[in-house]
Amino acid sequence: MNKPTATDIIIFGALGDLSQRKLIPSLYDLEKDHLLPHGSRILCLARQDIDTAQYRQTARENLALHVENDRLDEETLARLLSRIEYLTLDFNTDQHFQALSTNLAKHSTQQRIFYFATAAEFFGTISTKLSENNCITDTCRVVLEKPLGFDRESSSAINDQVGQYFTEQQIYRIDHYLGKETVQNLLALRFANPIFGTQWNQNHISHVEITIAESVGIEGRWSYFDKAGQMRDMVQNHLLQLLALVAMDPPDDLSADCIRDQKVKVLRQLKPISASEQKHAVVCGQYASGNNDVQLLPSYNSEEGAEGTSNTETFVAIRAEIQNWRWAGVPFYLRTGKRMKQKLTQIIIHFKQQPHFIFDPLQHGIASNKLILSLQPNEGVSLQVQTKSPGINNDIQIQPTILDLNFNKEFKDTRTPHAYERLLFEVIKGNQYLFVRRDEIEHAWTWCDNIMQHWSHPEHVLHKYPAGSWGPTESEIIIRNDKRQWFGDQ
Ligand code: BG6
Repeated sequence: MNKPTATDIIIFGALGDLSQRKLIPSLYDLEKDHLLPHGSRILCLARQDIDTAQYRQTARENLALHVENDRLDEETLARLLSRIEYLTLDFNTDQHFQALSTNLAKHSTQQRIFYFATAAEFFGTISTKLSENNCITDTCRVVLEKPLGFDRESSSAINDQVGQYFTEQQIYRIDHYLGKETVQNLLALRFANPIFGTQWNQNHISHVEITIAESVGIEGRWSYFDKAGQMRDMVQNHLLQLLALVAMDPPDDLSADCIRDQKVKVLRQLKPISASEQKHAVVCGQYASGNNDVQLLPSYNSEEGAEGTSNTETFVAIRAEIQNWRWAGVPFYLRTGKRMKQKLTQIIIHFKQQPHFIFDPLQHGIASNKLILSLQPNEGVSLQVQTKSPGINNDIQIQPTILDLNFNKEFKDTRTPHAYERLLFEVIKGNQYLFVRRDEIEHAWTWCDNIMQHWSHPEHVLHKYPAGSWGPTESEIIIRNDKRQWFGDQ
């Protein structure tokens, strides 16, 4: 890993939602912890005709909203804002790129990181203009935000365009789930603990559940989301990345390519789901109006910005299978939805039951171990084990007991960094292991495209579910068919 050197971080789309809510606040957090290399600058680029003072003021207002109160202080703010410079940049105006080039040339020894926080359709144009204006150096890096394309074909086209100017070693494709603490802990848990290492296969695991439930709806992004849907927005990237990390074989070491080689193998081995299998393996839903404990919630088609009646899915559940020795016969139940009952991201590894059960036969059903990896709202790991119910009255009655490791409580003196903060820091250090390689994205698209190609058929059904619920009741079928139920949403 390279030692961080003075860096120019050049953000395209610097007035957008992502920049204001995540990138600038993450840079603030790095600044606060003195992790931005000495002499680093932050060049913020957007179309609006404002100056640096106005941009700094906007950034200051948004930092007040998006940084935790106890982290905000004037001294850090001043240090961060003094690094920020704003340049107006319209992608079609050559003089704007020339001005950027002149600015960068004045600091030619700085490491350069271009952060494309714009829609992916502009990535090719920006790359071409950067090249024409001599902004691209052999050592610069480029960060690409998701969603990268609409399907495999468009994703490959974007990768081809960017790939004309940047090598794969220079490209950092963001999936912010890879920056979450528990995701990294998954590597530690799996590969540093022999107790799990030896059990992590079809001999010992009966099934795996991965749930990414969001309580929020579309949050003013209807026109983007309506073209994407939950499959492209959450499954193709975040959910399949979690699945790949759970299912991959041990990498030879922690280098980016060793880890990514193993993830690619899993994505390649995902069993395609044919049209006839979809009825039992895929459920799509869209939220109707409903309520949470606090308020009435509108239907997807009545959200702000909605245009007409849409059939875009806001919920997907899939019974996936991985065709290899480790996972033969072990279903992976995946589900993700917007406007669900609560924000909850968790991975549950269900271990098989004992082959011969010596306790009360009525208790056989409850007697298995579950490893629960929680990503949100709280990060932690817990293991459900069976213990004896205390007391002298009864024969041995067993009861599930939780061995709980809550990161916030256990490591209360250590702050857990935000995903973008960690990812930005890794780009500065030049470490690609938390970023997605081109072939990973493309295999993920292939699997998703194959499922979605059947959705235009008349027999494809979009099930309505009330906002604030656990999704369409039909999503229970894909797990109930295997005589199981989703964990924890009763
Ligand atoms: C983004 C999606 O990638 O992830 C959003 O585009 C989604 O639609 C968000 O809400 C969820 O991220 P998190 O970290 O809040 O689970």
